[in-house]
Amino acid sequence: TANGLAMTPPMGWNSWNRYGCKITEQTIRDATDAIVNSGMKAAGYQYVVIDDCWHGERTADGVITADAAKFPSGIKALADYVHSKGLKFGIYSDAGRKTCGGRPGSQGHEYQDAITYARWGVDYLKYDWCSTGVRNAEEAYALMADALRSTGRNIVLSMCEWGNNRPWEWGGKIGNLWRTTGDIRDAWKGPVTYSLGMMDIVDKNEPLYPYAGPGHWNDPDMLEVGNGGMTDVEYRTHFSLWAMMAAPLIAGNDIAAMTASTRLILLNKAVIAVDQDALGAQGRRVRDDGESEIWARPLANGDRAVALVNRSEAPARISVAWPEIGYPARLAMRIDDLWNGTTQVSVKGGFSAVVQPHGVTMVRLAPR
Ligand code: GLA
Repeated sequence: TANGLAMTPPMGWNSWNRYGCKITEQTIRDATDAIVNSGMKAAGYQYVVIDDCWHGERTADGVITADAAKFPSGIKALADYVHSKGLKFGIYSDAGRKTCGGRPGSQGHEYQDAITYARWGVDYLKYDWCSTGVRNAEEAYALMADALRSTGRNIVLSMCEWGNNRPWEWGGKIGNLWRTTGDIRDAWKGPVTYSLGMMDIVDKNEPLYPYAGPGHWNDPDMLEVGNGGMTDVEYRTHFSLWAMMAAPLIAGNDIAAMTASTRLILLNKAVIAVDQDALGAQGRRVRDDGESEIWARPLANGDRAVALVNRSEAPARISVAWPEIGYPARLAMRIDDLWNGTTQVSVKGGFSAVVQPHGVTMVRLAPR
């Protein structure tokens, strides 16, 4: 990895999925407070990231400024506030002339913007790909990476060019995470246009498992958990599969107002531990029966995380045999269910579970 950062997938919160361009400094302060008060900070959520539309115009000297009506105290004060709560601060820009929301992009101002960000205390940059014309993506991201590096400040680089230029092939030597798809929609599936349903994203991101590792991650986009377009069962599947795929866990909901069931999803420590496992190996689908799937992810201590996924509209019994996930059949296995908290020891060479429609059973397996 280029900068030594993000040795596990970044965790945090970003304003876009819930608020879009309707943000003010109060939105970000409230989210910061809620991350602390809800227990999310203690669970590992660290980066508070302002997405698009915080910008004002550039000064005559080309220095980027914040929208003075929405951010009257300025970005430095906001970063200081986030830091005062023991969290890290992230911001958004774009490799083109304009951001996707039509604000000033960083093209031609890369070093100037990096210096501004470093002065403000930015710890994380999400760098988008609108209005880039004929720019070469690898060069454009490498240029901003160099600008960030030249400031001497540790800044995670999140590359957001939607998987158009196979960023998994070059992103690892430049930045820390790269989007693999278009934008997520708060829906189980389809239609697959510019934005994709959650399971459409899963199908695009899954085959890229060989490219992920400590410091360089596939990014299947931010979480929709708690935003209202899916059921709690579907959100558990969303969160489980993001953990299986070693994805960044960037919440995108109104944390202060979240329901108890949303909280139980975002704060599931055992599932988060799978996401944050030190080995950094992205899990993959090891069996696909059409509507029923088995996923496995090797973990640093020799355990495996396994997810049984039911895409159908009816409950399904899904069975897995140890050899399918790389264990000999004869092992006695401790099986911890990460959603219902039960533990059992199996000597039967595998296990099975009845999985709800659109649901998941996620377990951690430990050979005895
Ligand atoms: C693009 C990105 C999104 C978001 C918006 C902001 O669509 O993929 O994640 O940052 O721009 O305009």
